[in-house]
Amino acid sequence: MGQPTPALNDDWWRSAVIYQVYVRSFADGDGDGTGDLAGVRARLPYLAELGVDALWFNPWYLSPMKDGGYDVADYRTIDPAFGTLAEAEKLIAEARELDIRTIVDIVPNHVSDQHPWFRAALAGGPERELFHFRPGRGEHGELPPNDWRSEFGGPAWTRLPDGDWYLHLFAPEQPDLNWAHPAVRQEHEDVLRFWFERGVAGVRIDSAALLVKDPRLPDFVEDRDPHPYVDRDELHDVYRGWRAVADEYGGVFVGEVWLPDTERFARYLRPDELHTAFNFSFMTCPWDAARLRTSIEDTLAEHAPIGAPATWVLCNHDVTRTVTRYGRADTGFDFATKAFGTPTDLTLGTRRARAAALLSLALPGAVYVYQGEELGLPEADIPLDRIEDPMHARSGGTDPGRDGCRVPLPWTADAPHAGFGGEPWLPQPAGWASYAADRQARDPGSMLALYREAIRLRPVLGDGPLTWLPAADGVLAFTRADGGTLCVVNLADTPATLPAHTAPLLASGPLDPEGRLPKDTAVWLRA
Ligand code: NOJ
Repeated sequence: MGQPTPALNDDWWRSAVIYQVYVRSFADGDGDGTGDLAGVRARLPYLAELGVDALWFNPWYLSPMKDGGYDVADYRTIDPAFGTLAEAEKLIAEARELDIRTIVDIVPNHVSDQHPWFRAALAGGPERELFHFRPGRGEHGELPPNDWRSEFGGPAWTRLPDGDWYLHLFAPEQPDLNWAHPAVRQEHEDVLRFWFERGVAGVRIDSAALLVKDPRLPDFVEDRDPHPYVDRDELHDVYRGWRAVADEYGGVFVGEVWLPDTERFARYLRPDELHTAFNFSFMTCPWDAARLRTSIEDTLAEHAPIGAPATWVLCNHDVTRTVTRYGRADTGFDFATKAFGTPTDLTLGTRRARAAALLSLALPGAVYVYQGEELGLPEADIPLDRIEDPMHARSGGTDPGRDGCRVPLPWTADAPHAGFGGEPWLPQPAGWASYAADRQARDPGSMLALYREAIRLRPVLGDGPLTWLPAADGVLAFTRADGGTLCVVNLADTPATLPAHTAPLLASGPLDPEGRLPKDTAVWLRA
């Protein structure tokens, strides 16, 4: 354990490209079919070549994996399926040698039911105070204490043999912590220190707007303000405490804050709270020029007064992969409308995803790339008997769940399991090898080549604010900084005439013979 490496550039997070590593599915170093830290360490050269500034690791802690590691049994131990703490320390240091920073994922809303606190609570200890235990309603306490629903479906309460109920906003194996208890706050500040001391540069905060509950635990009433558990004012005090810890180490936060109200969202980004938060309005936005422009404008407008940088996200481990989403009739994302068997045109979706990559990488702020996005992986159909995501079972089998975007990566076209390692924990669909990184690395027209080139060229766009340029309906055109470089994206049905320019710097697809930008194509130009 060493002192954190002093930051070379304290502001790196304002414009970084951050690559999300879902460890379980990234690369399998020991051949057991589960991705691990050895696999990540072996692939660091790939990540350096891609040009990313930081890696965000989904939870890598000891976990029974009832929700892909978001059920943490010990925040200070690496799950043995992934490796050891010593290996994590090596990985952090080796990445840093390559100028790549590490972001860990902290899950403060809940723990695993195997966490020592919850086990002690079940045994009747004072640890019950650290959770939300209540007697039930009804004559014999047979009804849950209130009507809250789990985010994964079903009631948010589970009854214990002793008659009491406990609250879980997610799966029953993820009991919610009681953030009104000082020990819960203290423990999380200690956990932050633990990881900052190991050299991590940042922390992603899971379910960041859900921690604090109305102590009365009232029934849910549509549109009641404040909400009994979403975005409560008391949360901001929690994050001010966290910020003070992060500032000691120069660490940064990115919050998972899903809030439709932009003013409420921006409160989390005040100068003494979180540095950044994921941009879910952009991530869920349909492939439509006017909608995208509004999303971009609203994002920039809500961030400007507080001086926080925007983030740009096209997908992550919870949502439908981009090339699939953009190839469907409904190109937006909504958990509520996920269904089996949605017709998809992957050629169309891939063309749009390529254009979206150039769009998001040209916008001012930080960009997140989810593993496999750079390979253009589609959402996979997982055989029903292999789906592990609790969202599927708890929906009664109607929701396909999130495993379709979590399939182990294809690295080598000609190797067994496409070079992932051992027999993958989730099956790779037929044809997966055609997306292999080694094959794409040799193909200048591949998605991987586009991402590498865009990330390499990105600094030439400048770091100035965005200025929209006049453009036809359905076309997005803007410049950054000195106006020397332009980004044009055509979402209209007809080819777009480009503004005066020298040779294109990079395009997501060929221009037409007249030098116009075809539908669903983006280009970076020198004016
Ligand atoms: C958000 C995470 O991204 C998701 O994967 C997880 O299931 C929930 N939070 C609960 O931790």
